[in-house]
Amino acid sequence: MNSLGTLGIEITGLDICRDLAGDAGDNLFGDIHAAWLEAGGFMVIRDQDMTQEQHMGFSRRFGPLFHDDGQPPLQDTVSRYLHPDHPQIYRVSNKVDENGEPTGRKGAGTYWHSDVSFRDHPAHASVLYGIQVPPRGGDTVFANMTAAYEALSDGMKGMIDGLHAVHDFAVAAATQYAKPVVIDNDFDGANRCVHPVVRTHADTGKKSLYINPGFTSHLDGFTPAESKPILEPLYTHATKQDFLYRHNWRPHDVVVWDNRCLMHYAVMDYTADRYMERCTVIGEKPV
Ligand code: SIN
Repeated sequence: MNSLGTLGIEITGLDICRDLAGDAGDNLFGDIHAAWLEAGGFMVIRDQDMTQEQHMGFSRRFGPLFHDDGQPPLQDTVSRYLHPDHPQIYRVSNKVDENGEPTGRKGAGTYWHSDVSFRDHPAHASVLYGIQVPPRGGDTVFANMTAAYEALSDGMKGMIDGLHAVHDFAVAAATQYAKPVVIDNDFDGANRCVHPVVRTHADTGKKSLYINPGFTSHLDGFTPAESKPILEPLYTHATKQDFLYRHNWRPHDVVVWDNRCLMHYAVMDYTADRYMERCTVIGEKPV
């Protein structure tokens, strides 16, 4: 296990499918989970070879997955990119199939966001498996929202500590998706909720900023125009180089990040094939 600096760890020599399987893997998973939390909620496990069932099985060690309940997915723009046999798996891809149909969402997450923050119970861990990655480019950048919060002045912390923000998938639908793809349901409020601007991590007890430009529409009780001069400087602050880790993918990396204390941004600077599958763990209601 190697530290990646101020955020994250790299794990080599581990076979998720063999070493973490079943009850025997519980202790080892406990150690890895503790190291992941300690490192700020980012890890890359190199050189994995997993089936979709194994990917889901590993991800469920963090908690239940979105769509584990067997209910049909909410009909929103994103639902078309779910794996047809395993709706728990969201496909991120710039490739098309033999009929010219997309095999996943092209340019997924090319904006700062925290996964599924527009739900009452937003994402906890995301487990992204880089099956095919470009030889150059296609990095994912992570912003450490705990470090960003801790670096704020006491005055600013005091000002934002009691605030809440509205998160709405409609923000991304309106700004990040090409018109023919976006559907009316994206704007009906089914994917909208209110969370504290500063959340306390359920496992570490640390405070983090919990706002993101991708899904946060405005501060609760404020107009969007009033919210902007408060939110924008916080985004600028949180995405300063000092708080970032940039992940350069190798084929068969499994990257696990904690959406409760990190934002991420997928850099769209490549043309070569990139195909990834993501399982997303349902988290607790932020407090
Ligand atoms: C995502 O937002 O989950 C996609 C990240 C990536 O493609 O790097």
